[in-house]
Amino acid sequence: MAADDDPGKWDCPPHTKAKHDMLGRYLDGWFPILASWSGRVVFLDGFAGRGRYNDGSEGSPLVALRHLLDHRSFPVMRDREFVFLFVEANDANAESLQQEIDKFKSERAPWPKNVKVSVVNDKFDVTATAMIDYLREQKKNLAPTFAFVDPFGYSGLPMDLLANLLDHPHTEVFVNFMVGHVQRFIERDGQENAMRSLFGIDVREVLDGYDGQGDRVEYLRAVYERQLQEKAKFDYVQSFAMINSTGNIGYYLLHGTKHRAGVKVMKSAMWKVDPGGGFTFSDRLAGKDVLFTPEPNLQPLREDLLSSFAGAKGVSVDYIEWHAILRTPYRETHVRPVLRLLEKEKIITVNRPPGKKQFTDGVTIDFP
Ligand SMILES: C[S@@+](CC[C@H](N)C(=O)[O-])C[C@H]1O[C@@H](n2cnc3c(N)ncnc32)[C@H](O)[C@@H]1O
Repeated sequence: MAADDDPGKWDCPPHTKAKHDMLGRYLDGWFPILASWSGRVVFLDGFAGRGRYNDGSEGSPLVALRHLLDHRSFPVMRDREFVFLFVEANDANAESLQQEIDKFKSERAPWPKNVKVSVVNDKFDVTATAMIDYLREQKKNLAPTFAFVDPFGYSGLPMDLLANLLDHPHTEVFVNFMVGHVQRFIERDGQENAMRSLFGIDVREVLDGYDGQGDRVEYLRAVYERQLQEKAKFDYVQSFAMINSTGNIGYYLLHGTKHRAGVKVMKSAMWKVDPGGGFTFSDRLAGKDVLFTPEPNLQPLREDLLSSFAGAKGVSVDYIEWHAILRTPYRETHVRPVLRLLEKEKIITVNRPPGKKQFTDGVTIDFP
């Protein structure tokens, strides 16, 4: 396999740009929410990269910094401290990243005092273990942290370590789960330890529920998602598949949060990403693929609402919207067009108190 600083690895395909777009849009929503809760906010990039791609596009560290500095609320967050920790194991990549950051800082001089940036030239697991030990010694908790974990493969991101490091109510994780590699190597001799570390359980246990017939990629995603929920205690985990031009899943992006507000912000970021360049992001609902395209197919949502709320009376629109956010791949904005059509077709009954229009507060729905 080519070295991590091999130039061939640093082309920036459209789906990587989309991943960065999604990250930036998410941080636009996340920075102000977290800054309103805490005096200090941490962005931890565990596999930070070289800072810039061959075509000149920014790597994730610069994307994160730019989205903070250019945020329209940045001026009112001056009394908050933003800590950016960029961990990169490869020496040449770390050096290149440091140079990119120095350049960015000089372009943005005078650099705001409340934004601290460090490049750590070490492995993610070594750095994370040192952080955990330090926090334990100091009897401190990690400040609210967004951890972006974006490796080239599947080694170096132990589940137990993520669970320990991110054991705080306001931490979030955004992981690139390279399922293609995992599925190819999971039963290879010599990979047992790497797989045990990735999932936090033995390979035998990972594959225990697999019947040998179904979609193994989808199965592995479900196990990884379950591990993030159970071990790392992320109550809400969403996964988005990157489907490439051959129709195969390249990787899954998984977002874990302990707050439903985080799910709402991530969904909004995900649905705004411009697909194209021969790939799409997708999720599944009741066995059907839902593609994140500008004009999505809302039929799976319609079917889901009719079955999830079958027979329910007086359900508020707000409740239905949260159901869509938390239990389906859709956003809250997709709900009203579906309800409008169901009302027009006289399938649901809409209870509108006098003076209420459309689906405003106080309007409730009776489902058949
Ligand atoms: C996919 S690239 C990261 C891309 C970057 N996150 C971005 O979006 O611009 C993965 C990076 O992780 C680095 N790396 C590999 N193993 C690592 C480890 N155990 N700890 C930290 N960095 C590692 C590689 O050198 C490479 O630069």
